[in-house]
Amino acid sequence: MIRTAILGYGRNGSTMHANPIEKYDDFEVVAVCDIDPEAQEKAKKRFGCPIYDDYHQMLEVEKPEFVVIVTRSSQHAQMAIDCLMAGAHVLVTKPWATNVLDAQRMIAAQQISGRKLFPWLPARFGVDLRAIKEIIDRGDIGRVFEIRRSACTFGLRFDWQTESKYGGGYLLNWGPHLIDQPLQLTDSPVKYVYGNLRQTINPGDVEDNLRVICHLENGVTVVSEYLIAAGDYPSWVIQGDRGTIYAHDHEIKVHSIKLPEHVDKSEYRSKVEHKEYTVTCEGNIYGDEFEIYPHIARALRGEEPYFVTLESALRLSRILEAAKRSSELHQEVCL
Ligand SMILES: NC(=O)c1ccc[n+]([C@@H]2O[C@H](COP(=O)([O-])OP(=O)(O)OC[C@H]3O[C@@H](n4cnc5c(N)ncnc54)[C@H](O)[C@@H]3O)[C@@H](O)[C@H]2O)c1
Repeated sequence: MIRTAILGYGRNGSTMHANPIEKYDDFEVVAVCDIDPEAQEKAKKRFGCPIYDDYHQMLEVEKPEFVVIVTRSSQHAQMAIDCLMAGAHVLVTKPWATNVLDAQRMIAAQQISGRKLFPWLPARFGVDLRAIKEIIDRGDIGRVFEIRRSACTFGLRFDWQTESKYGGGYLLNWGPHLIDQPLQLTDSPVKYVYGNLRQTINPGDVEDNLRVICHLENGVTVVSEYLIAAGDYPSWVIQGDRGTIYAHDHEIKVHSIKLPEHVDKSEYRSKVEHKEYTVTCEGNIYGDEFEIYPHIARALRGEEPYFVTLESALRLSRILEAAKRSSELHQEVCL
């Protein structure tokens, strides 16, 4: 059993992480740390383990093998560094860092400590992403040249996610899903980034509305957006030179186009053969923690590599930082 501590037992720590940790025998909860007395009480009742409000003390006394960090975003990097240097393997929820320097500091701490560092990017396990990858790999829409990934809502937030001092804002909150996912569909470095971040309906001092455009070296353009919009906005639109994919969450519609072998140039536009089919996928489009945690156990035991490389997490941090800078400068930023 992997002696595990949960650092941050709030909305996400007490569910997305605590649930699979509790379910699988690979893990044993040896401590929970949270500064909120209500969270402490709930964790005590559930796990009956020692509870701390100071994670330094928890590291010293319990010496956990593995710490899962699910505190506010601005706290992740320093906590991860401290846990690594205390000798624990670390999983850090998204966003693992709020800036590139912190991401590099975490990587340095991982190298010095020799412990494992797992950035949490669960949307790479998204069922829609996998289905779309299969469609593209089969060649059903030809060579992909544009990928648009969108999410929208009209819900207001009032919590720390609306404040920059806690690492709030939808770029850091949603970028690790909406920017990272499409980049999994095409293997190419990002050349330059455009960002447009706006605060529209939420209180606080950060954006609740974003559009980020990544131009890739292979010519593919990736548009990622989180919008304040009502209605039936497609979650994916993917254009290839032989068709288009439209997804609305679990329902993925594929239009495959066959261009004519011989073109009648007297016609204004060639006729095309059009084939259409729909794929419905089941499961979580932002990843299923019950599927991911057994993999984490195997990765901790060294039986397989963790699904997020530190290089790819650092690349994401670079893109997020470039998008913010681009929005401030009103111009594209080279990576
Ligand atoms: N799909 C996902 O991967 C996903 C979903 C939701 C949230 N998250 C991430 O999880 C993190 C937490 O979000 P949340 O919505 O659960 O927030 P939350 O405020 O509900 O939880 C954070 C917890 O950290 C505790 N905390 C604060 N300072 C602490 C300290 N010094 N020591 C110990 N505990 C401390 C708070 O008391 C709180 O219980 C965020 O970074 C967010 O981006 C990820």
